[in-house]
Amino acid sequence: SSGETQGIFKATKDDYQKVYDEIARLLVDKDDYDDGSYGPVLVRLAWHASGTYDAATKTGGSNGATMRFAPEGDHGANAGLKHARDFLEPVKAKFPWISYSDLWTLAGVCAIQEMQGPIIPWRPGRQDRDVAFCTPDGRLPDASKDQNHIRAIFGRMGFDDREMVALSGAHSLGRCHTDRSGYDGPWAFSPTVMTNEYFRLLMDEKWGWKKWNGPAQYEDQSTKSLMMLPTDMALIKDKEFKKHVERYAKDSQVFFKEFSDVIVKLFELGVPFESTPEDRISFKVSDD
Ligand code: HEM
Repeated sequence: SSGETQGIFKATKDDYQKVYDEIARLLVDKDDYDDGSYGPVLVRLAWHASGTYDAATKTGGSNGATMRFAPEGDHGANAGLKHARDFLEPVKAKFPWISYSDLWTLAGVCAIQEMQGPIIPWRPGRQDRDVAFCTPDGRLPDASKDQNHIRAIFGRMGFDDREMVALSGAHSLGRCHTDRSGYDGPWAFSPTVMTNEYFRLLMDEKWGWKKWNGPAQYEDQSTKSLMMLPTDMALIKDKEFKKHVERYAKDSQVFFKEFSDVIVKLFELGVPFESTPEDRISFKVSDD
């Protein structure tokens, strides 16, 4: 059995599509936030819930939704994600049978698809766990670091170079906030639409250090309205990473395909599924 059960209620694929549709509806409804969408911060919530996975000890990952508890919710890397968790509370209230851990990853899938990204097949099976399962601080990446750090953090989760670059393409979405990470600004001109723009900008723009009192970050020399983190720039400084940046900059279909495959893997790290990959659901995108 793969569905959520509460009492005698057993969720079907249609029930999960209803949850998806409700999140999609709220994304349209609550457009008075940031660049007009909660989509990017929902993607970040799903990624930070999943990216704590440690393949060696099989701890962390999206199973558990332990970011609900202070120790993990208060980790510096998770600053601002309360906006995403609070956004989803009415959805949890309407569909109390779904676990927070399934809800957060499903919301990430919904946000990507509704922002015109690729279809992200998803399956349920995560169970919420108590505070004792919170992961230690320091498992998520530090944006001030270089390629060695990227390989150490994502290698710990079980990803290779190609997958690390594909995942980073999520930075075509959203922005940095000075009151969260300390960094400032969006990576791309269309931060609420998923594209391969991040890779094209990395290849085509001239990037220089931003002159300001904040943490060291790059800005584009033509408009000075876009940004890159030191870890973003590491993707073109490192030859092996750069090969993939070039591939994705050239071909957005290749990027979408490889991004979908790798984010399915990310959202499933450490989840004790009883179902098989064939049980994954491809949610229907809302018509506009
Ligand atoms: C935002 C760092 C990888 C998705 C951010 C922010 C930082 C950051 C500093 C700004 C947070 C804020 O101030 O609100 C990093 C580093 C990474 C990494 C150092 C790896 C080396 C990823 C991955 C994904 C992702 C793998 C998803 C697959 C996002 C999204 C936002 C974001 C969607 C925008 C959030 C918003 O608009 O509120 N990231 N990130 N990031 N990140 Fe990453």
